[in-house]
Amino acid sequence: MQIEPSKIILGWQALRSQFTAIHVDPLERKWIGISIAVVGLLVAIITFDALLHGINPPSKVETIESASLHLSKEFAEENLGVQVDDKGAVIIRMVAGRYSFFPKHIQVPSETPLTFRWVSMDVLHGVHIPMTNMSTMIVPGYVAEISTSFPKPGEYPLLCNEYCGLGHNHMWSNISVIAKQDWQAPVRQAVKGEQQ
Ligand code: CUA
Repeated sequence: MQIEPSKIILGWQALRSQFTAIHVDPLERKWIGISIAVVGLLVAIITFDALLHGINPPSKVETIESASLHLSKEFAEENLGVQVDDKGAVIIRMVAGRYSFFPKHIQVPSETPLTFRWVSMDVLHGVHIPMTNMSTMIVPGYVAEISTSFPKPGEYPLLCNEYCGLGHNHMWSNISVIAKQDWQAPVRQAVKGEQQ
């Protein structure tokens, strides 16, 4: 069905005249204004965070078979951890499973854009790295991809923030962030099944 633009304008005008015909108490009008301002402020904060701090919901849907991760090309054990691709981008592949993140320990450079790709091998997990924008659910069957960077070298904890079973509160691991100039890219391993 096609709606002509002129009909939309007419409909909008009718709606407006109906609204103006309703009597609204000045106090009520004031509160309507305040509510709209609060909503506007929240939208502005979200927009600001999204544009300036890179805080975004995962936007692309990528599915994967959780039960056979170890057989798949990308998340086979030898492909996990830090890799640098041909264009020099740092990609980190991690698997979450009850009750740890694998590989258990990784080293990444500071002040460098990093792309994390997370998958779960069993149930729903989450990952949170304090002081960064890393906070995402790791839903079985999906790849969660988040880009982040660490401003300062140091030890950062990785915490599971979705209840995943009795060991949930022991599910954590850590990342060593090394000063950019001291960090050495790991020797690139070919992703299994890839042509060399
Ligand atoms: Cu994994 Cu909680």
